[in-house]
Amino acid sequence: MYKDKNKAHIRTENQYKEEYKKSVENHDLFWSEKANRLNWYKEWDRISDIDFEKAHIKWFEGAKLNASYNCIDRHIENGDGDKCAIIWEGNNPNEDKHYTYNQLLEEVSAFANVLKSNNIKKGDRVCIYLPMVPELAVAVLACARVGAIHSVVFAGFSSSALSARINDASCKMILTSDGSFRGNKIIDLKSIVDEALKDCDCVDSVIVLNRINSGITLNKNEKWWNDELDKVDDYFPAEIMDSEDPLFILYTSGSTGKPKGMVHSSGGYMVYTAYSFKNVFDYDDDDIYWCTADIGWITGHSYIVYGPLLNGATTMMFEGVPSYPDFGRFWEICEKHKVNQFYTAPTAIRALAKHPLDFVNKYDLSSLKVLGTVGEPINEEAWNWYNENIGKNKCPIVDTWWQTETGGIMITSLANVTKGKPTFATKPMMGIQPVLFDENGNEFDENNKNGILGIKYPWPSIARTIYGDHERYKNVYFSAYPGYYFPGDGAFRDEEGNYRITGRVDDVVIVSGHNLGTAPIEDVINMHDNVVESALVGYPHDIKGNALYAFVILKDDSKKDDINSEINQLISKSIGPIAKPEKIQLVPGLPKTRSGKIMRRILRKIACGEKDNFGDISTLLNPEIVEQIVKGS
Ligand code: WT7
Repeated sequence: MYKDKNKAHIRTENQYKEEYKKSVENHDLFWSEKANRLNWYKEWDRISDIDFEKAHIKWFEGAKLNASYNCIDRHIENGDGDKCAIIWEGNNPNEDKHYTYNQLLEEVSAFANVLKSNNIKKGDRVCIYLPMVPELAVAVLACARVGAIHSVVFAGFSSSALSARINDASCKMILTSDGSFRGNKIIDLKSIVDEALKDCDCVDSVIVLNRINSGITLNKNEKWWNDELDKVDDYFPAEIMDSEDPLFILYTSGSTGKPKGMVHSSGGYMVYTAYSFKNVFDYDDDDIYWCTADIGWITGHSYIVYGPLLNGATTMMFEGVPSYPDFGRFWEICEKHKVNQFYTAPTAIRALAKHPLDFVNKYDLSSLKVLGTVGEPINEEAWNWYNENIGKNKCPIVDTWWQTETGGIMITSLANVTKGKPTFATKPMMGIQPVLFDENGNEFDENNKNGILGIKYPWPSIARTIYGDHERYKNVYFSAYPGYYFPGDGAFRDEEGNYRITGRVDDVVIVSGHNLGTAPIEDVINMHDNVVESALVGYPHDIKGNALYAFVILKDDSKKDDINSEINQLISKSIGPIAKPEKIQLVPGLPKTRSGKIMRRILRKIACGEKDNFGDISTLLNPEIVEQIVKGS
C-alpha cells in the first residue's frame, strides 16, 4: 500500500480533469482509493454516510487508525527513519533544529507517556497554548498518539479568550511555556495562563515548557515539561482510534456569539489533507516545504503538521516574525534551508513588498519551485510582486481558498498541473463542487457573474460539528441553502470556470488573514462603562487586506480623552491585540432601520471614505445621523 505513495500524484491537466470527474461521479470510490495511501488497522464498514440537511457526516466509519502512527511510524517502517521530518527555525537567526522521523517518534512517544502519566486518556481534551517551538508539533502528535483531542489556542489570544476556549471544551490539561520570543519582544505567556486558569475549574494539570529561561517558579501542582519527560519511557504504542473519533477541536470566530469549536475527525481529515498537500504543492520526495502560518490556526494544523507528515515530507516551522531582525528574514530562511515550496499569507506579502527589494535580492531564492497564498483574497499588485520578485516568474502560485471548517484546501490551482490566474483561487479540488447563488437564493450557471458560494457535496475533511452545539453547526452552515454547505463567502466565476473569492457576505471581517466576527468585538466595546452602543465594520486596508472601523456612541462626551486606548486595552484583554480596530470614531448616533437594526451597509461606505451616494436613506429612523457621521469621519 505505502509503496504506492506517489501514485496519487497528479502530473497533468488532463489527469486533473479525469480525476475530478471521477471524484464527483463516484466520490466514495474516489476517496476510498485515496484512503488506501494511509495505514489502517481495520478497514471501514462503510465509505460515507451523509445527510447534509442534518449536518450528519461520516467517512470510513468502523475503520481504525492512528494519526500519529500514520504521520511518523509508517515512514520509519518504510525505511525513511533518517529522513528529516521537521526543520525548526527559531526567532533568533542563529537557532535552528532538525528532527528526523526517528527522532520525532522518540519525542512524540515520550511526550505521549507524559500525557498518560498525567492521567490523559483517549477522548480527553488537552489545550495547547504554546509558541511555535518544536514541542508544539510534538504535543499535537502526542495527543493524537494517545487519542486525546487537542485544542490548540493561538498564543496571541488573551487570557479571557483562552479561558473561554478551555472551558468550552472542558480541557483537563493545558500545555504552555514560561514565555515566548517574538521579534525583539518577550511575551509572558505564563501570566496569561495563570490569569485564564482562575476561571477554569476543569483543568487538572499544567505542564510548562522552559522556553525563555525566565526563572519563574511554578504554582502548586504545576510541572516542568522536562522534569516530566525525565520520568517516562520513550516508547508509546499508538492508540487505536475510529475513523470518526475526533482528532482535534479548533476555534474560529463566528459573526455572532462565542467562538465555535470546530471538531475534526481522524480518518476523513487525514485522507483529505494528505492528498491535497501532495497535489496542491506538487510535493516531491526530497523537497523542503515551508508554510509560515502558526500551528494555532487551521493552516498550521493541516499544512505544517498533518498534511506534510502524512506524506513523509520535510516540513518547516518558524518561531519568529517576517520583520526580525529585518524584512529579509523570510528570504534568508529560504536560502538557508533551500526551501522548495513556500506558503504564506497575502498580508505578509503586502507588508514585505513595502520595503526595498534589497531585502529580497540579497538572497539566493533559486531553490523555490512553488509559491502559495492563503487566508484572504490576494490583490493583483501583491500577486505580481510575489511572482516577479520571489518566484522570479518561474514558480507557479497556488492561491488556496478554504476555511477552518473545511479542514483542507477547497479551491486552488494545482502547482505545475492546472493554470493559476492572478486574484483567482481558480478550480475546485477533487470532490469539491462549488455552486453560486443569486441574492434570491437561486443557484445559477451563468459565468462572469458574482454570487454567493455554496458547496454541493461533503468531502472527507469537513468539520463534523461544533463542539457541544450541533444545532448551531446545522444552522450556521447548512440552513442557508438546504442541501449545501454555506461557507459565508461571495465569489465570481469566469468563463473558464475559475473562481475568484470576493470576500465575506456575513459580519465576519478577514483582517490580516484572520477571521474576526464583528459582533463579539462590539460586545467587548460595549462593556466599557462609558459606551452606549457601537458598530464595527471592515474596510479595505493596504497591508492587512481589511481593517476594523469602530463607530462608538458615548454616554458622557466629556470623558472621551482616553477612550481610544481604553477600548483598545479592553479588546486586547478580552480577545487579543489582533482584534483592535484601526480606527475608532465617536458618533452621536448610528443609522438604524425602523425596526432598530443598524444599517451596516452605510457604515461600511463611510469607513471606505464615501461622502455621499448612500442610496435611499429616507427609510431610516434617523436619516440626519448619516451626514453627522460623515462630517466626523
Ligand atoms: C476565510 C476562512 C484557510 C486558512 C486560513 C483562514 C478567507 C481564506 C482565501 C483565499 C480569498 C480566502 C475566506 C474564508 N479566505 N483563503 N485564498 N482567497 N479568501 O481560515 O480563519 O477559517 O478563514 O478566509 O473569507 O471564508 P479561517
